[in-house]
Amino acid sequence: MNAEPCTYVIYGSTGNLSRIKLMPALYHLDEANHLPEGTRIIAIGRRPWDQATWLKELREMIEQKVKSNFNEAVFKRFSERFCYHRGDLHEAEAYAALAELINDPEQQFSKNIAYYLSISPADFGQVLELLSANHLFEEEYGWRRVIIEKPFGYDLDSAQALQKKISLHLTEEQVYRIDHYLGKGMVQNVLVFRFANVMLEPLWNRNYIDHIQITHSEEIGIEGRGEYYNSAGAMRDMLQSHLLQMMTLVAMEPPVSMEAEALRDEKVKVLKSIRPIPKEAVHGHAFRAQYAKGTVNGVKVNGYLQEDNVPPNSTTETYAAMKLYVDNWRWRGVPFYLRTGKRLAKAQSTISICFRHPPLQFFRDTQVHCMNQNWVLLGIQPEECIRIEMTVKEPGLEMSTRTTSLDASFRNQNEKAIDAYEDLLLDVLKGDRSLFLRFDEVESAWRIVDPILQTWAIERDYIATYPAGSWGPEDSRRLFDKESQAWRSSLTPEACKYEV
Ligand code: BG6
Repeated sequence: MNAEPCTYVIYGSTGNLSRIKLMPALYHLDEANHLPEGTRIIAIGRRPWDQATWLKELREMIEQKVKSNFNEAVFKRFSERFCYHRGDLHEAEAYAALAELINDPEQQFSKNIAYYLSISPADFGQVLELLSANHLFEEEYGWRRVIIEKPFGYDLDSAQALQKKISLHLTEEQVYRIDHYLGKGMVQNVLVFRFANVMLEPLWNRNYIDHIQITHSEEIGIEGRGEYYNSAGAMRDMLQSHLLQMMTLVAMEPPVSMEAEALRDEKVKVLKSIRPIPKEAVHGHAFRAQYAKGTVNGVKVNGYLQEDNVPPNSTTETYAAMKLYVDNWRWRGVPFYLRTGKRLAKAQSTISICFRHPPLQFFRDTQVHCMNQNWVLLGIQPEECIRIEMTVKEPGLEMSTRTTSLDASFRNQNEKAIDAYEDLLLDVLKGDRSLFLRFDEVESAWRIVDPILQTWAIERDYIATYPAGSWGPEDSRRLFDKESQAWRSSLTPEACKYEV
């Protein structure tokens, strides 16, 4: 698919996401000559700025992000694409003015228009309605696409209500629901690793796999986002979206093609096959906790309750873990353990696949006392790697073993990392929706977590805590099905736990 020139209209262009992700991603795309000739960007903001003030701001955003790689010539070309447009998204006149600007023949804006809504979800409905009322979604002279940031709803009901509003104004083909994890190179590599290599596919099922873990841990806290975070919590913020998405890629059947519908059909099948968690079983399947004060990387940090804009009696979780079963032929009986947390010991995202024990009769009466299971480790970030852990004989006269790891690098040293948003922003210009969420995916994901959220919402008296800088509460171990299962936090071979 080819990227077509377009006018990107960015709502929330002075906000945090724009500053740290969107503008730098567009700059990088321009630098790499990926933005088609004629691509322009209308930055919408409430502040009464003129073009020069906006460009000064934009320069700061880019300089802060790219540091010494800032290129004056690229920035000049990039800044010429911009038009700052003052507009309050709650005021109807702002939309009429936008329509006038877009249709102004002198401006020569491309009639392919992508609206990026980097705004509070509470405003989605109104913005869509007003854009529609001003005929800004009509596709007479070019395509119109809308990119919607997460969270898509607050629970199943609100997601369905939002979808109803969206479908009044847009067709599904016009909607790009973002989950930026799908733009990460290593997340896409899960598909290539699984479907381009024949070696593991025969083993990728309940006959050989003991359990699967998906971990996203962060050292940072809530970074000034108290108001949003306190109403969301880790389950909504990370698990319902990013972690469940990673899980679908690990668990899905091979799609017919990489085409959007084929891929998303298979992801939805996984989500629909996940065994529903009845309310009375929530505590056996989910665990939540909140960080207390502690030390992260040698620095003393506050507990969650001391953060700005967090009520002193909040029971919002900053750590969430859950156990899921996929009740299909491939996965029946294999637990998937998902966990995420803020202020943990280390920032990393990993998918760890633990294989079953081999029969150990052969090693009885030898020096081998202990043998690890095989693991496949997919490091998503910051370390991007694929490792397969195997048992080998230790050199020497005795029959003893050690774990060694086969390393299939994802990136060579001279290959630059590409931010997830670069990939996704370009896909919008190509009309490729394979890395965006279809509504039935979002809906199924809410169905999975809703019973947990509802139970937690009424249990407001107590929440377990963990010291900032730790790996979370020991008690989350209770989710494991077997004594031999435990959270895996490292990408290097672990000490042996299993006695022969
Ligand atoms: C966002 C969450 O969607 O993802 C944040 O709202 C979280 O709370 C972030 O920190 C993590 O993304 P990444 O790309 O930094 O792993």
